[in-house]
Amino acid sequence: MNVETALRQRSSIRAFSQTPVARELVESILDAARFSPSGSNIQPWHVHVVSGDSRAQIVREVRHAAQFERDQHPPAYNYYPPQWRDPYLARRRACGWGLYSLLGITKGDRVRGLQQELRNFDFFDAPVGLFFFIDDDIPYGGWLDYGMFLQSIMLAAQSKGLATCPQAAWAPFHRIIRRVVGAPDSQTLICGLALGYADSTAEVNSYRPQRVDTGEFTTWHLSGEGN
Ligand SMILES: Cc1cc2nc3c(=O)[nH]c(=O)nc-3n(C[C@H](O)[C@H](O)[C@H](O)COP(=O)(O)O)c2cc1C
Repeated sequence: MNVETALRQRSSIRAFSQTPVARELVESILDAARFSPSGSNIQPWHVHVVSGDSRAQIVREVRHAAQFERDQHPPAYNYYPPQWRDPYLARRRACGWGLYSLLGITKGDRVRGLQQELRNFDFFDAPVGLFFFIDDDIPYGGWLDYGMFLQSIMLAAQSKGLATCPQAAWAPFHRIIRRVVGAPDSQTLICGLALGYADSTAEVNSYRPQRVDTGEFTTWHLSGEGN
């Protein structure tokens, strides 16, 4: 699969089959992703792969915390702006409602909305979960590097017939995850990622949120070049 095909075909998968993923396959994905660029080649990634018992423990504890103790788990960093404004607010709404309408969740249906949110915390049934930590003394640049590393993982997985869903939803529950995987207090949990085989029968996996056209975010400065 060439890179552009992988880029265009990858999408966030929110229903996985129970088919196990061989450890060698996960290793081969990480082995490809380690060639991602990073400023001064600092490679600021620390990855924890969970399946089996460790996955089950995290799922059990975080699902409980997300339902009953959410206020005890404030996020360690702002993924989203504290105050939403357009055009981001409109895009966020379109993304959320597009997904919910596909699932038949109507506006105001808090119970089903919460159920869907909680699906994050069983990795949407994916058999493998990844958690990504960064050292606290690494500033913005390392987070930029990390984004590339994450996309590399997702594209490598795509090229090997696997599916992914990046998940910032795990970030507030860093204390639980840190304890189970043994990550030090000096690292921040950036996000998790569900990894497995897509459930091809699940309608939710057909969701493809629209992108803005290239012309909406690009300004060309080409005068004098004959354009
Ligand atoms: C860093 C990051 C964190 C995300 N966190 C979540 C999440 O917690 N739960 C979820 O269902 N989707 C999550 N997403 C998926 C986005 O909603 C998705 O990428 C976006 O809607 C575009 O859709 P696509 O990935 O299918 O192309 C996340 C994406 C990124 C890049």
